[in-house]
Amino acid sequence: MTVDATATSVSGVNIKSSQNRLLIKNGRIVNDDGIEEADVYIEDGIIKQVGRNLIIPGGTRTIDAAGKLVMPGGIDPHTHFELEMMGAKTADDFYKGTRAAVAGGTTTIIDFVLPEKGQSLLEAYANWREKADNKVCCDYGLHVGVTWWSPAVQKEMKQLVSEQYGVNSFKMFMAYRNTWMLDDYDLYCAIETCAELKALPQVHAENGHIIARNTEKLLAAGVTRPEGHQLSRDEEVESEAVNRACVIANQANSPLYIVHMMSKSAVRALQLARNKQKQPVYGETLAATVGTDGTHYRNSCFRHAAAHVLSPPLRPDPSTPQAMVEALADDHLQLIGSDNCTFHEKDKEIGKGNFSKIPNGVNGVEDRMTILWQKGVNTGIMDPCRFVAVTSSSAAKIFNLWPQKGRVAVNSDADIVVWDPRLEKTITAASHKQAVDFNIFEGQHVVGGPQYVIVNGRVCLDDGELRVVEGLGKFLKTPINSPYVYGEQNLSHADHDLLEPLSRDSPDRVNGSSVPT
Ligand code: URP
Ligand code: ZN
Ligand code: ZN
Ligand code: ZN
Repeated sequence: MTVDATATSVSGVNIKSSQNRLLIKNGRIVNDDGIEEADVYIEDGIIKQVGRNLIIPGGTRTIDAAGKLVMPGGIDPHTHFELEMMGAKTADDFYKGTRAAVAGGTTTIIDFVLPEKGQSLLEAYANWREKADNKVCCDYGLHVGVTWWSPAVQKEMKQLVSEQYGVNSFKMFMAYRNTWMLDDYDLYCAIETCAELKALPQVHAENGHIIARNTEKLLAAGVTRPEGHQLSRDEEVESEAVNRACVIANQANSPLYIVHMMSKSAVRALQLARNKQKQPVYGETLAATVGTDGTHYRNSCFRHAAAHVLSPPLRPDPSTPQAMVEALADDHLQLIGSDNCTFHEKDKEIGKGNFSKIPNGVNGVEDRMTILWQKGVNTGIMDPCRFVAVTSSSAAKIFNLWPQKGRVAVNSDADIVVWDPRLEKTITAASHKQAVDFNIFEGQHVVGGPQYVIVNGRVCLDDGELRVVEGLGKFLKTPINSPYVYGEQNLSHADHDLLEPLSRDSPDRVNGSSVPT
C-alpha cells in the first residue's frame, strides 16, 4: 500500500476520525440541471445537508469555497489501467491512474475488462478485480469486453450482470481484426444479448477489414511512420462502422453506446441514427479529441508522433476539436471520457518500422476536466451545468450510478470538486501525476481547475496538495436496467431534425441535454 503525503492507513482510525465531517461553505453548487448558492455538509462520506445557515457539529473542518464552484466529482467512463495490448503494458496502473484522476477532479472511473479470445469472461473479470481492488484511490466500475462469441460467452454475460458481479455494460470491437474484433453476426448476437439482459452494449466503431487491407497497402508502398496509422483509417472508416453498429442495434431493438467518437463524420452518422432509432444511442468523445488533433502524426520526431497514436485516430482536420466541443454542448454527443491507455516511449518504439505495431493509446485521465473547461466553458461554448453533465452526471445516469454519483445533493456520495475558475497551469509531463513519460497536451495553458477534490468524504486534493490513499476506493456494482436507458426516464433519442448541420446555432444548444434530470 502506498500513502501520499500525510495520509495514514486506509483502515486507520485517523482517516475516519479526522476527516469524517466536512463543511464546504460559501460556494456555488453546480449540478447538471442548475446552479445554487449553498453550503454542503458531509458526514461519513455522504452529503447530509445542503443549504445556507446549516447547523453543524463542533470540530467540523470547514473549506471556504467563496468564488469557487462546487461540482460533482468527474466520472471518467473510459480508462485502461494495467492493460496489456500489442506487446506492451500500460504505464498507468490502478494506483497511479486513479491518483492522477483525482488530481484532475475525477472521483470515479470505469475501466474495461478485456478478455483474450477464448478466455473466460469471468476469469478476466476476476483478474481485473484482483489488479484494481487494493490499488484504486477512488471508486471504480467495470465494463467487460466481448472479444469472442460462443454460448459459453453468452452464459457468462448473464452471470456478470447478476448482483454478485455488478456489470451492466459490454464492449464489442469492430476493429483489431486479429485480436478483439467480432464479425457482424457475432456483434448482432452480443448486442441482442445485452438488450435481453437490459445491459448496455458499447461499440468500438471502425471497419477492421478496411484497416487491415489499407495497412497492407501502405506498408507495401513504404509508408511505415505513425502518419500511416491515420491514413489507414480515415473518417469514413469510422463513420461507416458507426452507421453499421446503429443499424445492428436497431435490428436487435437495443440501445447502444459508441465509445471514443473521434470525427465530425462519425458524429453526423450518430446524429442520423439518434433521429430514427427505436432505442437510445449515446456517443462518447475524448479529452484527446477536443484537446489536440491529428496533425501531430506528421511530426518528424517518431516519439512525438507515436505518442498520439490511438484508435480511432485523431483527425488531421483542424476544425475537429471545436466541432466536438460543440457537439458535446449541443447534445449531439452525450459525454466525454479519456480512454486513458498510456505507453512509455520505449513501448511505442515497438512500432518504429511499422506504424501498425505502435501500441494504441494516449493519456487524458488527469487532464480531461481542465481541457474541457478550457475548450468548452472558457470559450463560452458550454455553460458549467452542461460541463457537469458531460463530465459526470450523464455517465452516472447511463451506467446506473445516479444519484449516488454525479450529483451534489443530500444522500449522494461525497465525491465533490471545489473548482477554481481562476486557477492557471501549463500542462506538462514534467509535473503531471500520471506515470507515462509524455503528455499529448504538453505546453497547453489552462485556466480553471480543481482546488479541492473530495473522494467519499475525504479531502484527497487539499488546496492543491495531493493526499490520496491507495485502496481507499471501492468497486461499484452497476445494476442493469438503468431507468435512463431502459425506463420511463429514457434519454430521448429523437431530439433533432434529420440532417441538422453540426453548427453552432442549433436552437437546442445550451443545456440541451437529453439526459433527464
Ligand atoms: O487506442 C485506443 N483506443 N486504445 C485503447 C483500446 C481501445 O480501443 O479502447
Ligand atoms: Zn476501443
Ligand atoms: Zn479504450
Ligand atoms: Zn441539435
